[in-house]
Amino acid sequence: MSSRQILASRVGPLGTTVFSEFSALALKHGAVNLGQGFPDFDGPDAVKEAAHQAILSGINQYAPSVGLKVLREAIAEHGARFHGQEGIDPDTMVTVTSGATEAIFCVLLGLVDPGDEVVAFEPFYDSYDANIAFVGARPRYVPLRPPDATHATWWFDRDEVRAAFGPRTRLLILNTPHNPTGKVFTREELAFLAELCAEHDVKVLSDEVYEHIVFAPARHVRAATVPGLAERTVTVSSGGKSFSFTGWKVGWIIAPPALRDAVQRAHQFVTFATASPLQAAMAVALRLPDTYFEQLRAQYLARRERLLAGLAQAGLKAHVPEGSYFILADISGQGLGDDVAFCRHLVTRVGVAAIPPSVFYAPEHRHLGQGMARFAFCKSDAILDDAARRLKDGLSPRRAG
Ligand SMILES: Cc1ncc(COP(=O)(O)O)c(C=O)c1O
Repeated sequence: MSSRQILASRVGPLGTTVFSEFSALALKHGAVNLGQGFPDFDGPDAVKEAAHQAILSGINQYAPSVGLKVLREAIAEHGARFHGQEGIDPDTMVTVTSGATEAIFCVLLGLVDPGDEVVAFEPFYDSYDANIAFVGARPRYVPLRPPDATHATWWFDRDEVRAAFGPRTRLLILNTPHNPTGKVFTREELAFLAELCAEHDVKVLSDEVYEHIVFAPARHVRAATVPGLAERTVTVSSGGKSFSFTGWKVGWIIAPPALRDAVQRAHQFVTFATASPLQAAMAVALRLPDTYFEQLRAQYLARRERLLAGLAQAGLKAHVPEGSYFILADISGQGLGDDVAFCRHLVTRVGVAAIPPSVFYAPEHRHLGQGMARFAFCKSDAILDDAARRLKDGLSPRRAG
């Protein structure tokens, strides 16, 4: 049978994700893996214990499709407590999903028709592009620009965003804090986007999975709290990053009832429901005291500084992220080719895995990512130090020579 007969056209263009490819290379070459963004440490024992107790106490059958009530209530409380998002009705405005990944897919399925256009920023989290294709829509990407003499952080050209909106635009995808640039969108930027969405009657998917990994003076602004966005925004988040349980895949959406209903209609036939005992434990996690969230941020700040110092010692300049657990380093002066060639060299010869960010751009904009490499700092100190040593030993002498 030819591959033409096996592969449906919607999956034909999709290869293996870059994360799988570089994780496999890291394993093969014994490299320190700063590629894929999962912590090498676990979340709080109290949350693990809650999952254990949930299983032992018999929370083991299907949860309601919208999610366990205790978790929907905790999601609503958490939104008000940390982001000033008041008035979330757990019964009509929340659906629990299998990670943010499923939530993103269900938002696209529920709100976007074939032939519609979806505006998103580049570089983008790679599942957006695949999901836009799955629903037969067309992406319109607007590049985020790196910090420069007049911009202290990553920024976007307002005229470029305006030009991306048109009569077919159905959805804007936002991601704040942003993977992989670490940009945290300001209230003012969100207000500009709110105006544009109102003008074109466009809905918003706001992916906020890094909502608790934000470094002062940056502050996370929940898009749905910006005037004009509340009524048109589906907030997507999950417990993976905030509680270091990425493998649990417990995510959720928060949206006005009509939008929640659209997403729920898709969700009921995608996974129907998410693992019940893990939902019960996630409710405990979301209600952890403030000190937990403060410590999480402080620990990530220390890891960010550790990796920035390691990269600097190896002669790699980096953009300092305001949020998320990724650093984009400038590799343009390394003389090792583009980002893909550089990352291959790094994983096979230097013993460190990073991700080439050009894969987070549409083919016509790939060049914008070719001078950078993405390093994840959600790793223990020993791993970050080992990576720093390898980078210094592997890159500096080459340049000196
Ligand atoms: C921006 C962004 N959105 C969504 C996800 C997926 O989240 P989950 O693991 O909850 O499906 C990730 C994971 O890396 C991410 O970086």
